Amino acid sequence: MHSMTNTQDLNLRLESTLQELPLWEVQVELDRPGNVLTTLFEQEPLLPGVILTRNQCFVGMISRQRFFEHMSRPYSFGLYSKRPIDNLYNFLQPEVFILAEDMPVVEATQVALQRSLEFFYEPILVTTKSRRHKLVDFHQLLLAYSQIYALTLTQLQQVEEQSKIARAGFRDLKHNYTRLLQNEKMAALGQLVAGIAHEINNPINFIAGNLVHAIDYTQNLLNLISLYQQQYPHPAAEIQTASTQIELDYLIDDLPNLLASMQIGCDRIGQIVRSLRNFSRLDEAERKTVDIHEGIDSTLLILKSRLKNLENGKNVTIVKEYENLPLVECYAGLLNQVFMNILNNAIDALDEWVNGEITDSPKIQIRTQVIDSDWIAIHITDNGPGIPKKVQKQLFDPFFTTKPVGKGTGLGLSISYQIVVEKHGGQLHCISTVGKGSEFIIKIPIQSEK
Ligand SMILES: Nc1ncnc2c1ncn2[C@@H]1O[C@H](COP(=O)(O)OP(=O)(O)OP(=O)(O)O)[C@@H](O)[C@H]1O
Ligand SMILES: [Mg+2]
Repeated sequence: MHSMTNTQDLNLRLESTLQELPLWEVQVELDRPGNVLTTLFEQEPLLPGVILTRNQCFVGMISRQRFFEHMSRPYSFGLYSKRPIDNLYNFLQPEVFILAEDMPVVEATQVALQRSLEFFYEPILVTTKSRRHKLVDFHQLLLAYSQIYALTLTQLQQVEEQSKIARAGFRDLKHNYTRLLQNEKMAALGQLVAGIAHEINNPINFIAGNLVHAIDYTQNLLNLISLYQQQYPHPAAEIQTASTQIELDYLIDDLPNLLASMQIGCDRIGQIVRSLRNFSRLDEAERKTVDIHEGIDSTLLILKSRLKNLENGKNVTIVKEYENLPLVECYAGLLNQVFMNILNNAIDALDEWVNGEITDSPKIQIRTQVIDSDWIAIHITDNGPGIPKKVQKQLFDPFFTTKPVGKGTGLGLSISYQIVVEKHGGQLHCISTVGKGSEFIIKIPIQSEK
């Protein structure tokens, strides 16, 4: 006849319909006496109402509330308990509110809530496809509604959560991909630099190696000529003419200078090759103890062409203030990337500053410092436009850039941060005043902890 299921035990979904709720189907023929209803309601305290039939055909419904409300009036009990329910029914003419069983609970509740206050708590008649009638308690309907509401909130939260996860996943993916690309780019640059260094190294070794002898031989020949001149102060006319033609005195004077400057050139090329190799540091995937100054100098060498001829035609002056640093245990190639990124940013900033009211000439100061027995610091300072406070907050965020599309990827500083902080357990800060310039401070432990 009816189910006693509580709504809390139902497995409701957002789209649940009335037929999934506990439905009551207690029917009484109208010719039965009124006290049958009293008995039924007393036997089943949760029964919200009874369906009334005549000759098994649906006529209407009387709710528990309406029945007891009426029966508690004076004389009612005497009048109706023994007489057919028909009498009571005709007197009350109770209104019924009918909904189809396949109506969603959410919709049914909204419709039921629009009933007039007088019928607000009356049970609702539900018609089935097979034209049967059942009752649903309004209280149960409200409970089901609130359960579905809670479910909706949970699902919304889950969706929100999932989309957050998806968004974060996508951001990480993009981040990793671009980082990979950037690392690849740096590795490729390193390889190229190392390749060039190697190619230059061989021929310059020939020249440098032979130059020593060339200087030696030349000196010997010059000594010999000088000896000839002493022994034969008056040579034959032919020799005298030839000597004048080749400007022998000048040649004797200049040749050693010429060879010495060739030697200087060779040394310089050798230095460049060493710097290029130092920059690439391809062979050093492991930590090594290195001279930080060498890394900075080789990075400056690579950037040399950028330091000349800014957009306003000025050159960037590099001011080095190197303290006596101990060797530092680090990933040298990676640290060189950091110097490269920070110096590149400084040059970009100075280049941009052309339109600003530049009073100083563009300058980058590189200062190194021993902080204590465990730490060193490198300060890279420019007298460019400076960085507004708002930008400073996002400086190290991946993909943050103020540069035009195609110019900056916004990864330089975020990668540098990772290298300094995560790879080396160091610190990377920026101090900047708009209109004055920016200072980037790299702090690195002398001895790695790992
Ligand atoms: N020395 C500086 N002076 C002024 N602004 C700077 C300086 N260094 C960095 N910035 C600001 O920080 C932003 C982020 O720098 P970051 O190196 O991470 O990216 P980017 O230089 O824009 O692009 P990328 O280095 O990937 O080519 C820059 O776009 C710039 O606005
Ligand atoms: Mg950059």
